This record gives sequence, structure tokens and C-alpha cells, in this order.
Amino acid sequence: MTPEAGFRLRHKHLLGIEPLDADEVRLILDTTESFLEISQRPIKKVPTLRGRTIVNFFMEPSTRTRSSFEIAEKRLSADSLNFSAAGSSVSKGESLIDTARNLEAMAPDMIVVRHSAAGAPHLLARVCRSTIINAGDGAHEHPTQALLDAFTMRQKKGRIDGLEVAIVGDLLHSRVVRSNIFLLKKLGAKVRVSGPPTLVPPGLHRLGVEVRTHMEEALEGVDVVMMLRVQQERMLGGAFPSLREYFNLYGLTEERIKLAHRDVIVMHPGPLNRGVEIAAEVADGPYSVILEQVTNGVAVRMAILYLLSGGVVGELAA
Ligand code: NCD
Repeated sequence: MTPEAGFRLRHKHLLGIEPLDADEVRLILDTTESFLEISQRPIKKVPTLRGRTIVNFFMEPSTRTRSSFEIAEKRLSADSLNFSAAGSSVSKGESLIDTARNLEAMAPDMIVVRHSAAGAPHLLARVCRSTIINAGDGAHEHPTQALLDAFTMRQKKGRIDGLEVAIVGDLLHSRVVRSNIFLLKKLGAKVRVSGPPTLVPPGLHRLGVEVRTHMEEALEGVDVVMMLRVQQERMLGGAFPSLREYFNLYGLTEERIKLAHRDVIVMHPGPLNRGVEIAAEVADGPYSVILEQVTNGVAVRMAILYLLSGGVVGELAA
């Protein structure tokens, strides 16, 4: 069911998927359709956020998420500032709260934050007046990634309700898997997860997913396969014997794809480790929607920025 005209988000911040209800998720996905259309025009700019200031506060490396937010802000005519740990006073030892209070003193309307600590955006939401958007906090949540993933699934499959989705890989370090599970369960999809037992967080099954140790069982008949990156920078070593062994057991190959539904789509949030969690032929092959996820990411972030600035369904500036 599509939300009625006039419906708006009931939240000031986007800290995660968990606090949203199913209607709010649908509102964001429906609003994204309009922004995707704007992104396909020869002139991709609308005056919606003219005069608003947005700070992109990235304390961890990022390529897609950061450039996607920046393009989304530019297409909405907002003024944006990029702020990262390297080259800032954070490298001189300034605390997160002090840095945020100083940024806040410059009166931004929104702060988009990525941080290695789970809960950092929630802390900022308590001490700052600005709207806070979580662009990934530790291994906790990455709400805009889950929204762009859901948008892509709905675009390709026509629905989320009843879809069988397998999420495979390094589940332990992934904020993407948590946000995806919250969202997919809210909209009625069935989720199976698989990864080496050393990379499955204890208690994951309590989120309402089936945990399958063998990747083959997880892939059986699924409509969507989402592969996750092996996050070697967060491992102290020892989670699995070698990258070759990992690929042999959990790499998505053309052979393994045959186990899924014949119209399966293959997703990955990026960055890819080719030959580790996914074979190059699969990443570049006919089932892959990986670059479409990136395209949709800009439209999803435009929708989020619009809705959190008080935007209302059916009143989008043309
Ligand atoms: C992910 C992240 O940073 O959480 N990437 C992304 O935002 N597209 C996943 C990852 O780093 O593997």
C-alpha cells in the first residue's frame, strides 16, 4: 500500500532502519522514484534544499556513500561541506563531541556522519540541534545502504513481500547486513544468511533470519543474493585459513548461481574483493545489479534529505 499524500516522516533523524515503521520505509522508497526521474534529466538539479547547509562528517574511509551523499546534496541545491578525520583536529586528539559542537556552532541544518564506533550518530543526535543522518556506524547500522538495496530489489522484482533473500559473507563486521535484515523483515521478505561460523555474530538468528553454514543451502531457490565484503581491515587474523579457502567455500561463482532462482539478482554494497567473495565473471555478469545499486543510492539519499527537511509526499518541487 502506498502512503497517502501528506504523509511525512515522524523522525527528526535517520539513525537506523530499526526505529522506522513499514509505512515510513515505503514512503522513502516511493519518494525515491521521483528523485530517480530527476537524476535522469539533462539538468539534474532542483531548488528543494536551496539555502540549507549540510556537513558530511566522515571519520572512516568511504567512496560510494560519501560521493553519493555529496551528489545528492548538489542535485538538491544544498550547500555542503566535506569534513574527514585526516587533516582535521580529530587527528590532534579532539573528541567526537567537541568536534561536533564546533561544527554545530556554524549552524548546519544536517550532519551526515560515518564513524567506526557503533552509536556515534545517536550520541550526536543527543548533543546537536541539527538533523543527524547515519552513513554507517561501526558494525551497527547503515540505513541508507539498506534503503537503496530495497529500492533496487523492488525495482527489479516488483515487490519485497515474499522475496527469498540470501545474504552471504562476513556477517560479523557488517552494518549492511543488520540494516538489511531490519528492513527486509519489516516489508515481509524471508532472509537466510550464511558465512564461516567465525564470521557469524552470536544471536543473529534472533533477528528472525535462518543461519545456514553451507553457502549452497543458503542459495537454494533464492530471488536475491547479496554478497558482503570480507572486511580484512577489521580482522586480527585467524577468522579463516586463507583467501583461497574462503573463495572455495563462500565465493559466489557462476556454478553456485545455478542453485538460485533462474531470475536471481546479484547485489553487493561495494567495495568488491574480486576473487574473494565474488568471482569477477559474476560481478560483471548478467545477474549483477551492483552498479544500479550505486545509481539508485543517489536518488535514495535525495529522498532522505528531502523528507528529513520536512518534505511531504506529493509536494515535491519540480
Ligand atoms: C559498506 C560499508 O562501509 O559499510 N560499504 C558501503 O557503504 N557501500 C560495506 C563495506 O565496507 O564492505
